[in-house]
Amino acid sequence: MDVSDLMTGMDYGPAPESAAEALAWLVDRGDRFGCHIDGAFTAPGATFDSRNPATGEVLALITQATADDVDTAIAAARKAQPKWAKLTGHARARHLYALARMIQKNARLFAVMETLDNGKPIRESRDIDVPLAARHFYYHAGLAQLLDKELPGHAPLGVCGQIIPWNFPLLMLAWKVAPALAAGNTVVLKPAEWTSLTALMFADLARAAGLPKGVVNIVTGDGAVGEMIVAHEGIDKIAFTGSTEVGRKIRTATAGSGKALSLELGGKSPYIVFEDADLDSAVEGLVDAIWFNQGQVCCAGSRLLVQEGIAEAFHDRLKARMEGLRIGDPLDKCIDIGAIVGPVQRDRIAALVESGGGNLFQADCPLPDHGCFYPPTLITGLSPADPLMQEEIFGPVLVSTTFRTPAEAVQLANDTRYGLAASVWSENINVALDVAPKLSAGVVWVNGSNMFDAAAGFGGLRESGFGREGGWEGLHGYLRPDLPAKALKPLPPPAPGDEPEPADPMDRTAKLYIGGKQARPDGGYSRPVHGLRGRILGHVGLGSRKDIRNAVEAARKAQGPWAAASGHNRAQILFYIAENLSARTDEFTARLHAMTGGQTARAAPEVEVAASIDRLFTYAAWADKHDGQIKGVPIRGAALALQAPVGVIGAFCPDEAPLLGLISVMAPAIAMGNACVLVPSEPHPLAATDFYQVLDTSDVPGGVVNIVTGPHAALAEPMAAHMDVDAVWSFSSSDLSGGIEVAAAGNLKRTWVNRGRARDWSGAAGEGRAFLRAATEVKTVWIPWGA
Ligand code: NAI
Repeated sequence: MDVSDLMTGMDYGPAPESAAEALAWLVDRGDRFGCHIDGAFTAPGATFDSRNPATGEVLALITQATADDVDTAIAAARKAQPKWAKLTGHARARHLYALARMIQKNARLFAVMETLDNGKPIRESRDIDVPLAARHFYYHAGLAQLLDKELPGHAPLGVCGQIIPWNFPLLMLAWKVAPALAAGNTVVLKPAEWTSLTALMFADLARAAGLPKGVVNIVTGDGAVGEMIVAHEGIDKIAFTGSTEVGRKIRTATAGSGKALSLELGGKSPYIVFEDADLDSAVEGLVDAIWFNQGQVCCAGSRLLVQEGIAEAFHDRLKARMEGLRIGDPLDKCIDIGAIVGPVQRDRIAALVESGGGNLFQADCPLPDHGCFYPPTLITGLSPADPLMQEEIFGPVLVSTTFRTPAEAVQLANDTRYGLAASVWSENINVALDVAPKLSAGVVWVNGSNMFDAAAGFGGLRESGFGREGGWEGLHGYLRPDLPAKALKPLPPPAPGDEPEPADPMDRTAKLYIGGKQARPDGGYSRPVHGLRGRILGHVGLGSRKDIRNAVEAARKAQGPWAAASGHNRAQILFYIAENLSARTDEFTARLHAMTGGQTARAAPEVEVAASIDRLFTYAAWADKHDGQIKGVPIRGAALALQAPVGVIGAFCPDEAPLLGLISVMAPAIAMGNACVLVPSEPHPLAATDFYQVLDTSDVPGGVVNIVTGPHAALAEPMAAHMDVDAVWSFSSSDLSGGIEVAAAGNLKRTWVNRGRARDWSGAAGEGRAFLRAATEVKTVWIPWGA
């Protein structure tokens, strides 16, 4: 026997981590847990079992929180919030730092408890979950410290309801709690019913570390408890991570309530291997992408796309590697794959695989004879539309297909309703960096997978949800601009008056503006527009659902090339629009005088036109200055935070500032590379219809700006429900928020709605970074390097 025989033939000896300390912690607390509210455990109520999925043993009994518990927790958070927000950033930073240190000091205890409760290998909870959770608190201690000086004019949202899943119980808590606290909010958090223990441990140890009572409250229980938090009037924001199905329910339940919302949902992330990739590294990366945490990862690289010429060789290497994976006792440090979180989840995975077809390969690794385990699985031979290629399996199951060209790889990768993450493997920098920005995903890893850091934004596009966690961009999700806002009354269109109509035989019916051309409204109807003294100023088309569809189609066609144009190019066009508007100052001023007499807006018509020109200059300036960043992540390489356009934005413009409002919404949208469908001021639409001519003479490509006049209330639903619209904004004086947010749940599009609150369009509230942020999505591209 030589050394090589020894190395290949030698069996692993088990190297189990002791569970004694963690079990003793449970026993010390009586093995039965109430909620953790206002700095103390409540008496346990009706309880359910929390089991170790690797053994089936009951670890503890957890309380199913009641409506009273939820009320008490929210009241405690509400009471604590003003005092917490009033602390200096430095004082909050000290608390966050204390939490980071507390996690580090108890790292082993947290890691073992997480593994007992969730079934993930101790290697992962020890080396990934717990250190990343500590890192999150450190990073946000820093943000709290800098906040007052770096983001003046912002206020916390208030009380945040946070609902998290079972796949990274402590880490998801950290992702939610750290930014909320840094920004001055207090929290009511509900862990998943499978995995409540590290959240309870966190709250207990946080109290001991001096966190004021009521700042973090934990209520335990199932989805019904989540629903109570979502519906509760005392909540200002819901932050949710979990399934797309529940995310959609929460979007609908919070619609029109004024609650802020961020959703981090499911995925079916592509893992693209080009023929010039380093294949061994790509295989190793894939092990991490799909077998990390048993594949129960929202951004798991669960869809392998491999270039045709290397597919066979790659699959062979992958199968050989799969055979070497070790499944078993998650507390054993030599284990690669631990237990699935619970029997329901394991049975769901098995049922999906059995019903799915394709060529099945399951590694022949020995499985423990009891507990919740599922073997690493590869399925080939599926077509792109097969359910297994489209549905999130959330288990250790990889599906695979092939492509021929980079263009086909991008097309297959984007053929999904999700948009969370993607991996690209190629040794050719041209291929990798060409493909990465084309992938519809919030996070892209080049030659890597599952890299996370508190400094780098994480979050999805499409039905993977909206909002970012991590970085300054994540902090913004817990802040609002500190602006005075007053209620806005719907403005009715001026009615006919006594003044005689002018005898003018000319038809003055303004059409719609779609794809760079004037278009008659599909329904063929129009309405008279009256001026301030009731005189008819002209007629305007009444847009309908069909017109919105046509406008969205035109916008979609135009958006790609417009986004591909340089910022410099877009800036020139915005300057040119300003120049052409400037040349027509008298005409627009007269129009505003005739429509409103300056009585609806805060600004006189002369001031409104001047402010409109100024605002076009502002966004011409921003077009090439809303820069991305390179994030300070702890890898050899870079994490680029790109400012990507949202896509097609549908916007209801303010009624009270007919020209300035339209421009305040249009200009940031197009400056950032979006195309838009604008519904102008409902009572005073003629400044918008006059504006077509300015657009026509300013080299704006057809379809980048589309204008559909008509009743806001009737057009809100078709716009918000349209599957090809990526975001809907409403600054209408009619409160459209409920209707828009319900309809937006269909494809989980982003919404930005003013809920009938007035904004001073001529002042600072009418422009700036808030508009730029709404017009862009941060896309993080990780590029590790090393010769
Ligand atoms: P889930 O989405 O049902 O649960 C996530 C959290 O939401 C839990 O705390 C749960 O109690 C709570 N919840 C459930 N219904 C709710 C409601 N109506 N209102 C408010 N909160 C509610 O996920 P589940 O059932 O644990 O897993 C089912 C599938 O969801 C998985 O197989 C996987 O496909 C997906 N999933 C995705 C995750 C991700 O990170 N993207 C995480 C967990 C699950």
